[in-house]
Amino acid sequence: MAKQVKSKQRVAEYGEVFTNEREVKAMCDLVAQECDRIDSRFLEPACGNGNFLAEILTRKLATVKKLYKSNSYDYDRYSVLAVSSVYGIDIMQDNTEECRKRLYGIWNKEYKSVCKKQCNDDTRKSVEYILGKNILCGNALTLMCVDENQEDTAVPIVFPEWSLVQYTKLKRRDFRLDVMLKVGEKPNNQKLLFDSDDDISQYLSQNPVTGEYMAEPMCEYPPINYRRIWENG
Ligand SMILES: C[S@@+](CC[C@H](N)C(=O)[O-])C[C@H]1O[C@@H](n2cnc3c(N)ncnc32)[C@H](O)[C@@H]1O
Repeated sequence: MAKQVKSKQRVAEYGEVFTNEREVKAMCDLVAQECDRIDSRFLEPACGNGNFLAEILTRKLATVKKLYKSNSYDYDRYSVLAVSSVYGIDIMQDNTEECRKRLYGIWNKEYKSVCKKQCNDDTRKSVEYILGKNILCGNALTLMCVDENQEDTAVPIVFPEWSLVQYTKLKRRDFRLDVMLKVGEKPNNQKLLFDSDDDISQYLSQNPVTGEYMAEPMCEYPPINYRRIWENG
């Protein structure tokens, strides 16, 4: 059984107790259809070293294999899409680094076993790049990035939304997490101020029918081949 505790101090300060594999699997079973779907998006706001995200990615990759194992080009592309759909935040830098490495390891092992000689190093670079953007060191309560001392910075947490378009291209749109959490709410008269002291109303629009908030991206990139996604900067 994997270790559940790194140190007593971390348990006391950050409530860091990792979940056992058995419980992780049982909880994922509760949303099994979503875990199996290649492009369903998951965010783990206290992801630790990735116990839940690892299980979710494993299940998604099993679907990719089932559907596309006979065509390495399709497997290549859809396995990247699967990686791009999992997101995590943890307040501890070492956890986020372990989580990224672990997810990369799960993906790369499957990639090698399915695509063999067709494996492509540019695809590997894209997966590393996506994990660097999707798994962030941050404070899920204040919605701010944190530095190496676990102190909040003035930088809000931003996640890219990745969508497969035109067969081989990925489109990236960046959204602030504090903005996304307003989606579906109805406006009241309070000013939209968060810990960043930032007025986020510029990133919110209203659904003309329901009046509910919709999120606007803070940045939108032109679609680019999924193997060269890092070129967008
Ligand atoms: C109970 S552990 C769960 C870890 C993982 N989800 C699992 O089930 O194995 C809680 C995690 O939340 C992280 N954490 C604590 N406070 C946090 C905060 N404000 N924002 C983000 N992560 C936080 C800790 O570092 C720890 O990894």
